[in-house]
Amino acid sequence: MKIAVLPGDGIGPEIVAEAVKVLNALDLDFEMESAPVGGAAYALTGHPLPEATLKLAMEADAVLFGAVGDWKYDTLDRPLRPEQAILGLRKHMGLFANFRPAICYKELTHASSLKPELVAGLDILIIRELTGDIYFGQPRGRRIATDGHFPGAEEAFDTMRYSRPEIERIAHVAFQAAQKRSKRVTSVDKANVLETFQFWKDVVTEVGKEYPDVQLDHMYVDNAAMQLVKEPKRFDVVVTGNMFGDILSDEASMLTGSIGMLPSASLNSKGQGLYEPSHGSAPDIAGKNVANPLATILSAAMMLRFSLNQEAAAQRIEDAVQAVLAQGLRTPDIWSEGTTRVGTAEMGDAVVAALR
Ligand code: IPM
Ligand code: MG
Repeated sequence: MKIAVLPGDGIGPEIVAEAVKVLNALDLDFEMESAPVGGAAYALTGHPLPEATLKLAMEADAVLFGAVGDWKYDTLDRPLRPEQAILGLRKHMGLFANFRPAICYKELTHASSLKPELVAGLDILIIRELTGDIYFGQPRGRRIATDGHFPGAEEAFDTMRYSRPEIERIAHVAFQAAQKRSKRVTSVDKANVLETFQFWKDVVTEVGKEYPDVQLDHMYVDNAAMQLVKEPKRFDVVVTGNMFGDILSDEASMLTGSIGMLPSASLNSKGQGLYEPSHGSAPDIAGKNVANPLATILSAAMMLRFSLNQEAAAQRIEDAVQAVLAQGLRTPDIWSEGTTRVGTAEMGDAVVAALR
């Protein structure tokens, strides 16, 4: 089992170090190799996704990824910015299926900005298509307009597009995930306005006929954004495109109290996966031993389950995380009166201790 470890920028190295600590405590036979990515890689090599890093990732069974991005690099040309590293990995590895669970742990119900009764027991799985849509659609660029409201003016444009096979494969992923849960899928679109998402809705509906045991409903993205804060527990599996999924998954994560708790998995058709916390690189708190490593530790658990076929080990990690929460240990992002404040490394140590 070969794991490529890509810590990245900001808090990435600190939180990944804790996940590696936890993996090492499992006594399984891993080969782990690290490489720079994002701004850290740009500073070393002049490129956010160096050839050698990409090669390591492509050859591994799984990638454990921290986070990329730092305000320092915001003025670089787009192809050199840290974000291009994660977009490049998604594209080159074909990581089209992104799983973003939003689970509200009972100990953290009060950390949510919503009323406890709205979020207690919340367990949503957002499945975001990750290699298509307006993120990757060509053509894109800047030009002088020849039509539109201001012919002759400078303009920028991107292309929203989805092919039938792209929609079919993510729909299958969603229906199959739902079969293992409460057998409900909500497909989120904007079919009332966009051709791309009328097609999305049509194709998801067709694929749904192959899963008569799963109940499918459709929702416009604006309504979905509203329902997520109004009545989040009405959702189970949510499947949507790349851009809507980007936005809705951040919204869903906040329902749970802290984005610092949420893992994610991005899979290709070969079972290879990239595992990363749902949050970003948080450069403002980097190096201060205050970042919450639990999202990354839980991402390592997803890695064991989805790419390394180690369900028992995955469950052990998830149980250990539950145990440290039950002990009252909290990093500052989830701290509340009456609980014990700990740092990044102490939280990792506590999870290791709970494993034993
Ligand atoms: C995410 C992030 C990325 C995205 C950025 C960093 C490119 O927001 O993983 O959700 O937009 O997909
Ligand atoms: Mg995002």
